[in-house]
This record gives sequence, structure tokens and C-alpha cells, in this order.
Amino acid sequence: MDAPPESGAPAETAPPTSTTAVAPPTSAPAPADDAGEQGAGTEPTTSDRPIEPVAGAETLGDPYYPEVGNGGYDVAAYDLDLRVDIDGDDRLSGTAAVELTVVEPLARLSFDLIGLEVASVTVNGQPAAFDQTEAKLRITPPSPLTEATDHTIVVAYAGSPDAIESGTRFGRIGWLDLPTASLVLGEPTGARTWFPVNDHPSDKATYAVDIDAPSPLLGVSNGDLVDIDIGPERTTTSWRMDDPMASYLATVAVGDLELVDGEPGAGVPVLDAVTPSLQRAFPGDFDQTDEMLVVLTDLFGPYPFSSYGALVADADFGSALETQGRSIFGSGLVDGDGSIERIVAHELAHQWFGNHVTPSTWRDIWLNEGLATYAEDLWLEFGRGVDPGELEERLLFRAENAARPAPGDPGPADLFAPSVYRRGGATIHALRRQVGDDAFFEILRTWLVRFGGGNASTADFVALSEEVSGMELAAFFEAWLGDGPVPGFPD
Ligand code: ARG
Ligand code: ZN
Repeated sequence: MDAPPESGAPAETAPPTSTTAVAPPTSAPAPADDAGEQGAGTEPTTSDRPIEPVAGAETLGDPYYPEVGNGGYDVAAYDLDLRVDIDGDDRLSGTAAVELTVVEPLARLSFDLIGLEVASVTVNGQPAAFDQTEAKLRITPPSPLTEATDHTIVVAYAGSPDAIESGTRFGRIGWLDLPTASLVLGEPTGARTWFPVNDHPSDKATYAVDIDAPSPLLGVSNGDLVDIDIGPERTTTSWRMDDPMASYLATVAVGDLELVDGEPGAGVPVLDAVTPSLQRAFPGDFDQTDEMLVVLTDLFGPYPFSSYGALVADADFGSALETQGRSIFGSGLVDGDGSIERIVAHELAHQWFGNHVTPSTWRDIWLNEGLATYAEDLWLEFGRGVDPGELEERLLFRAENAARPAPGDPGPADLFAPSVYRRGGATIHALRRQVGDDAFFEILRTWLVRFGGGNASTADFVALSEEVSGMELAAFFEAWLGDGPVPGFPD
């Protein structure tokens, strides 16, 4: 890779040394201070001197996944044009138009991308130099990018995408190729297997995804369906997610899928995508979605996106994922007997907790899973009239039986450990008992209003809980989120 022209900054910038701080929007250090010139009396002062363009950092300093994320810029929008085939050399070929702003003048920048080959890159319409490492696409624009305007980077790429090992209990993530369908489970760092991306939850952006698939297969993605054209050879669909979305929540599924209008709830349109063999069973598991939308909206505030739905492809991956605006469920979960009610409520609740307000770093994962797990109980209490004492007893029992690792810092291998869900969920109930119902629901609603569309950390949650309740809660959260004995609920 060429050094950036006339740049005094090193081509590689070191990752941030602190792993305790929340990842800043960019982790590239401020441009070097040209220490050698300090003595020259004729030099303008630091503030007057033009800032030398730097190379954006190839990390955002996530404490669990320092290898993902890229500094120096902030993506506003991804516009992905994908052609998908079931066989052949390049099963995916795509054009990604990435609209971004820079937070410091950039001589070079990078995206995360794994296993796909880039054919060309333009920056603001001009061809740009690029190279690829195993997991990064590095781009050198013809001239440095400055803060003054928005920039558009267009990447043409192709290949046969493949999932990667997540190192968590859910195994492979990213683009999964199954016998009759392909689909993406991105969490936590799998978006980079299908498009060039700043693959860290702190850089949220809007998405437009157009999919061209061989008929009768059909592509489904997040958000609203804005166009569909079913032809004898190819079927094209256009999807829009106009609210900021973290990359791990972006998805594409291509398969034999039927689009079915669901019953709207709380004024939210519902569009499900279901593999034909499960069409008959599907309603038995999902026909409470409208009621769940009503109850959760009552408790938390408005549903944060313009539509919702479930996506069940012919893909038995054994779990579910709260992909934004359209949650994905493994086909094996669906049998129509209603036994996945908790999971259906859980993924819907993530739309508020995790998707609208997104963790600042992966260490904050309990905010996702604890709040969504507790929301299952809230649905059962307020939507189904289940006895709260029963729910409380079950929650505590389960937390005590999955007490470790500490939900507040489980480490990457245990990102989805049962303790993150159960002890994390019990922490939320303990907070409710500690501060009382009025303050508790005000904390949740203020959380969504204040941080909605963006990111927040555990420290933000503790501070907000203290602010709303007027109580000192640092020791309370430390005990609940640590790896000591589960405290037991306050009286
Ligand atoms: N966030 C998901 C949940 O709702 C768990 C992650 C599932 N990921 C996967 N690759 N299957 O609990
Ligand atoms: Zn979850």
C-alpha cells in the first residue's frame, strides 16, 4: 500500500490502548503534532495549521472484537445492489455505494470485508487505489477526503460468500449457504462476509438493499418492501431501512419464500416471509405478534421502525435473531403449537432494546439480552395475565442456575452465555423492585427516547437509572452484573 501523499502520519495507526472506554466514533489518534517544527518561530499556531490527512484506524477499539471497525469516518447510508445465484463461480456479485462523512481528513480508509473479491472502487466518482487483506479493504482516494462534504464510495465486488466462525455458542455467522436457501445471521461480526462495511455496532446507518435472484427464489431484507418484480428468469426486490441500523442487524435471505401480510398491531404494518412448507404452521406461533406490538408499545413507547415481520426460511439454524424490522427464526422452531411464544416476544422486544438503542461495544451485550429476556416476562405479565410472583420465582431460579460468567463482562466466547440472558434479565427485574414501577418504566422510556437511533453503554444505563430514581445504584448494578452470588430481589 502506498503511503498517503505528503502525510506525516504513519500509514498504520495503533489501536487505542484503553479497552475500558466506550469506543469513540473514530479511534485514529489526532494527527501527529509535527514535534520537530515546534521551535520554528514562524510556524502558525497549532490551531491555524492545516491538519495533515491521516490513514483511518483499522479498528474501533472494541474490547471484545478489536479486529472489526474502522476509524476516521462515519457511514450515513449503505446502498447495496446484489445479484445472487445458486451455483456458478460468483454466487454473489454486488455493488455497494457507501455514503459517509469523515471526522478528520483522510488520506486512506478501510472497510471490513472477508472472502469476496473487489473489482473496482470509486470515490466521489473517481477511480481509487485499493488493496485487500484477509479481512480489510483498504482504499486510497485520489485526493484526501475532507470534512467539508459527504463522500460516496462505490465498491464493485463478487465471489462466493461464506460464513465465518463466531467463537460464540452460536457457531458460524455471516452468509450461510443452505441446500435451498441462503441467509445472513450477522451477529456479532458477520456483516463483513457479504458487503464492505464498518462492521461495528457504533457506526449505524440507513440501508437500501436491492436483490436480484433466480426465480422462483426471492430475496428478503430488512424494513419496507418498496418494489418487487417477479419474472420468469429473475425476481428482483427492493428493501429499505430508513432508520439507523447496526451492521449486525442487516440481513438478506434468498429462498423459496412467500410474502404474507400479517395483522398490524399498534398501527405497525406487518409483513412476514415464510417458506411454503411452514405456511400452515406459521400462524400458530406468530398470531400474537399484533397483540405483542400493542402491549410492548404501551410499556416502552412507539415501535421504533416503519414495519415489522418474521422471516422463516428453509433454514434450521436452531435459534432466532432480531434482524432490524424483520426478525429471523430458525425453521425448526416453528411447528404451530405456540411453544415459542417467549422467543417471538424476545425478538420483537429487541427492536426497542438492541436495535433502536444499540450497545456501544460488545461488552454491553447484557443490555440487549437482559432487557429482551425480561421483556418476555413483561409480555406474559401484561399481555397474558400471568402471575408476576410465578414469573419472578422462575427468573431468579434460572439466574441462580446460570450465574456465571458475569453478565456485565462475559468475554467474547461467552457473549451469549445463559448468564447474559438470565442474570441479565434478573438484573432488570431487580431494578424494577429497587426503584418501583413508576421510576422503572420511566427509565426504560427515557432510555429509548434519549439514546434511540444511536448507541449507549452500561455506564449510560446506570447513570440514567440513578438520574430517574434519584438513588445511588452503582453498587447495586455491580453486584447484579458481577460474578458473585446472585443477590436476590429487593423487597
Ligand atoms: N441475539 C440473538 C437472540 O435473540 C442471539 C444470537 C443468535 N445468533 C445466531 N447466529 N444464531 O438471542
Ligand atoms: Zn436476544
